[in-house]
Amino acid sequence: MAEKRAAFEAPFNMVNDWIAEATASEANDPTAMALATSTPDGFPSVRMVLMKGCDAEGIVFYTNLDSRKGNELAENPKAAILFHWKTLRRQIRIEGEVEAVSAEEADAYFASRPRASRIGAWASKQSREMQGRFEFEAAIASYMAKFGAGDVPRPENWSGFRLKPTYFEFWRDRKFRLHERITYKLDDEASNWALAELYP
Ligand SMILES: Cc1cc2nc3c(=O)[nH]c(=O)nc-3n(C[C@H](O)[C@H](O)[C@H](O)COP(=O)(O)O)c2cc1C
Repeated sequence: MAEKRAAFEAPFNMVNDWIAEATASEANDPTAMALATSTPDGFPSVRMVLMKGCDAEGIVFYTNLDSRKGNELAENPKAAILFHWKTLRRQIRIEGEVEAVSAEEADAYFASRPRASRIGAWASKQSREMQGRFEFEAAIASYMAKFGAGDVPRPENWSGFRLKPTYFEFWRDRKFRLHERITYKLDDEASNWALAELYP
């Protein structure tokens, strides 16, 4: 049983190991990942987000639920993630479906953010058009006045998603473009990974 658990956790541990290495070598944001969603018409749609948790339960990130990505994920929870670290010459592709994190989990993470970021989460109508920067600055000032020195709670439309991977691909640079590609594909019972190696 413990052996099976360890085998299931292997790709998640590998993500964390590579992030630990990237943390030592990258100039900034070693947990930055591209998040791909899709539009209602089936067009790909991609942007960077920060990974805020990775364990056998999945990969967590936070955002505004009324943003473009939030709306696209509400419509179609299938998503893909890509990490790339120039200093390591490595990438990781991950695919799966997202689910909402619990309110308690989102509250705990939101509370850990700097106060200015928490105010920003209230003031930013992420992905919607604004008349100009002044509009955003006025919203920031008004929320600063509203919350004063008190607590800044999590806005209801700001929360996290957990991507439950069904596929991982670990890519490592090798000389002469003879790269290494190791894949993990989840079986139909969602309990075991089938490992394979792909031509570069
Ligand atoms: C390195 C980096 C990290 C980012 N991290 C986040 C994040 O964790 N959450 C988020 O909502 N946006 C993050 N952003 C901004 C997004 O890329 C994007 O501009 C924003 O979320 C709006 O995307 P959308 O219109 O597709 O919803 C980050 C941008 C960069 C460049």
